Amino acid sequence: MAKTKVAVLISGRGSNLKALIEACEDPSYPAEIVLVVSNNAKAGGLQHAQDAGIETEVLDHRDFDSRDDFEDALDTLLRLYAVRFVCLAGFMRILTASFTERWRDLLINIHPSLLPAFKGLHTHERALETGVRVHGCTVHYVRPEMDNGPIIGQAAVPVLHDDTPETLGARVLTAEHQLFPQCVALACSGKARVAAEHVRLQVREFGAELLMNPHD
Ligand code: GAR
Repeated sequence: MAKTKVAVLISGRGSNLKALIEACEDPSYPAEIVLVVSNNAKAGGLQHAQDAGIETEVLDHRDFDSRDDFEDALDTLLRLYAVRFVCLAGFMRILTASFTERWRDLLINIHPSLLPAFKGLHTHERALETGVRVHGCTVHYVRPEMDNGPIIGQAAVPVLHDDTPETLGARVLTAEHQLFPQCVALACSGKARVAAEHVRLQVREFGAELLMNPHD
């Protein structure tokens, strides 16, 4: 079956992009990355794409007069590459409602918290400050409100008593690398459709194991 063409938007290191590139190497994976766009020419993730022979484009938002102009250029680029789904993987620009509505249910974001907790930045610091025992990451369809939208999947990790933002962040990032490719695959194969602003997953249920921390 033809693979779904996806673009990945990044701003930095690109470790989630790398996880997705690796998943795409499996012939049975339902998506192929046809384009990586960065708004930052120095983003380390561009190298991951180039190493994998994927087309890259840099669209520096500072070169545009307005957000709308930047997004129009982005939209033109995505259509040029016949992109079907757009994945935000550490893309640190807020997109306007006009763009997110143009790509409604075709635009996927990964966020480093268990949404709706800890929207925005510094999620690991805030999780530690709040004293939550479980933290994690979320992959969701994008809506105009920041870090909001129908949830495709979440992965939880424990918060340990001696965690720092760095150790907790590293644990969450490992979970992101597993969750992101899985959720992109579900979306691209039509197994994560939105109905009444909830994602209906067409996958086998995993049972109802309890995620509990502490567990003793
Ligand atoms: C990831 O932790 C991702 O969840 C986060 O940025 C990091 C990018 O890392 N995204 C956001 O905070 C978006 N609100 P990466 O460049 O190594 O994939």
